Amino acid sequence: MRYDQIADETRLGEYQNAFGGIYFNTDSPTLKVALQEMDRGLSGLLAQSPRFLDTASDGAGLIVLKKVLLDATTLQQVAGDFEGLGRDGFVISPITSNGRKATLITANEDLGILYGVFHFLRQLQMQQPLHALKERSTPKTDIRMLNHWDNLDRTVERGYAGFSIWNWHTLPDLIDQRYIDYARANASIGINATSPTNVNANAEILTPHYLEKVQALARVFRPYGIKVYLTARFSAPIEIGGLQTADPLDTQVRQWWKDKATEIYSLIPDFGGFLVKANSEGQPGPQNYGRTHADGANMLAEALAPHQGTVIWRAFVYSEHDLTDRAKQAFSEFVPVDGQFHTNVMLQVKNGPIDFQPREPFHPMFGAMPKTPLMMEFQITQEYLGFSTHLVFLPRLFEEVLQADTYRKGKGSTVARVIDGSLHGYTRTGMAGVANIGTDINWTGHPFGQANWYGFGRLAWDPYMSSEQIAEEWLRTTFSNERGFLQPMKQLLLGSREAVVHYMNPLGLHHIFDSGHHYGPGPWVDNHSRPEWNPVYYHRADRLGVGFDRTATGSDALQQYAPHWAEKWGDLASCPEEYLLWFHHLPWTYVLKNGHTLWEGMALTYQQGVVEVQQMKNTWAQMAPYVDLEQHDRVSMLLDIQLKEARWWRDACLLYFGQFSGEPLPPGVDAPDHSLGYYQSLKFPYAPGIRPSWDD
Ligand code: GCU
Repeated sequence: MRYDQIADETRLGEYQNAFGGIYFNTDSPTLKVALQEMDRGLSGLLAQSPRFLDTASDGAGLIVLKKVLLDATTLQQVAGDFEGLGRDGFVISPITSNGRKATLITANEDLGILYGVFHFLRQLQMQQPLHALKERSTPKTDIRMLNHWDNLDRTVERGYAGFSIWNWHTLPDLIDQRYIDYARANASIGINATSPTNVNANAEILTPHYLEKVQALARVFRPYGIKVYLTARFSAPIEIGGLQTADPLDTQVRQWWKDKATEIYSLIPDFGGFLVKANSEGQPGPQNYGRTHADGANMLAEALAPHQGTVIWRAFVYSEHDLTDRAKQAFSEFVPVDGQFHTNVMLQVKNGPIDFQPREPFHPMFGAMPKTPLMMEFQITQEYLGFSTHLVFLPRLFEEVLQADTYRKGKGSTVARVIDGSLHGYTRTGMAGVANIGTDINWTGHPFGQANWYGFGRLAWDPYMSSEQIAEEWLRTTFSNERGFLQPMKQLLLGSREAVVHYMNPLGLHHIFDSGHHYGPGPWVDNHSRPEWNPVYYHRADRLGVGFDRTATGSDALQQYAPHWAEKWGDLASCPEEYLLWFHHLPWTYVLKNGHTLWEGMALTYQQGVVEVQQMKNTWAQMAPYVDLEQHDRVSMLLDIQLKEARWWRDACLLYFGQFSGEPLPPGVDAPDHSLGYYQSLKFPYAPGIRPSWDD
């Protein structure tokens, strides 16, 4: 959104000529901010202030008008029906107006116009020829949401870009420009919902003192079409309501939530609803009272229903009292209660069954709950992907999950089709991303972290979009349209996710991060109270082998998938090697497809990851002509850190696993710089993103 002047002079001339006069009808707050954006965008891109005309007949080359205001001749020229566009969709179309060629941006509603304006500006930034300035687009999901894990004291759980952007102390009176820019950035990619506070919730946010502050944020976001949701702590009726219980079947508790909902809606009429983490990782929930997740969710649903609010209930649950494979617990809890939730309840499911690892198979709940709308939860902040110092282009990961086929209703039952509602006919749809935003001057710590925020938004709008197109758009609009930049950088972005898998978690290894902060490797950690908080729980390495047996001889988590996958992943001959140690415990001498033993393959893949980061560094070094010096320097330094840490991962993990394999490093793998004891001795009590008390 820097809106730098269009570099290609021919294109610039073409645009200046075409968009000299603009007719832009503005009769609502949303249209006013759309016009402001158009003004700001064109002033920068075209290096001239746009001329807004009073009527289209004054020779407007760009016409921005809601459908109801279009005259019959113009309407005829816009192909396709308007019904399908819904509330948020838009059309950009070449037309002839008063005998002159023009470009029209239109939509059913104001918000569609705003989205159309942003898309139009993006097309200009990508220097599209005039005749190609056309688009017809409607989002495929209803709720496109950021989840901030921000605490009221402004620390951010798993945040690596500084402190929380929400300054609760100065709200509601001080409206930071950042709030407005946040809304602009989100609207530019179609994000229409936000939950500003941590899912490990503090009940205080529901008190009048804080609700007034939330109201102020909601007021800023409203013209941009962004609804606010709040994280609801299940025990709030006790903590701030003075009740003795939070039992969801207790009449007083139910009344308390109803009154709370009414109070919130009186302040924020378009309030979205509650986002809830309950009975997970020590959070209170209905099970504390012997009730089910459905009892808890339905109580809140009842409170919100008169106001058209939604309960987003998180499916990320696992319990210290349940000794079964953590990967199985969410499915076991929720699938049996499919159909028991009220219609305004959605379940928010993480992309994989463990926890945002560099690679996981898709979550088995997708496709298995036809009667309950499931929302996707991705993590944009890089808790397990090198924090904000590693360049990892996450749309590649997101795309892999969305395109995965659940086979629940035959071939083609993709996760994307679960999420957009088409597979089961869900009436509500959505996608959430755990934000990577903070007070850092560039918002996300790593300048390339913005590509993940961007990519999340684009995929929430259209879960079928390719990561390649997203990479192309982001690189062009952020840095440069030059081929010499785009081609190598696209390759760099698209390869970066596989590189991190290689140097952190090859061959299906997972959750071998140092505990608590999750910074760096910790495969040796075995001293935490809960078994599943220890990396040894996940890799199970010993002299005989390595990996988690999730077949019938082990935890049998495979049975939670459709037979197609249970068979394919369960059989070593057909299990893709990227999931090998996720599903199987194998001897170190097991022979991989390329003829190497498992040990050799593991070592060589770690090495490959390091080499790939070195290649990323080399590519970036050649990009200096296309990027401003400060950005270029910063990313170079970050890539140095990434390389250092990739080596750290390789050396620490290979020294550790090497003890069990008993084999030397194969040729081609660099010898480690330090001993295993050295890597084990590294401690990071002040690593970012954690609460000091956080154990896992
Ligand atoms: C992970 C993460 C926690 C977070 C939790 C959640 O376990 O480490 O910080 O609270 O996910 O998604 O609820």
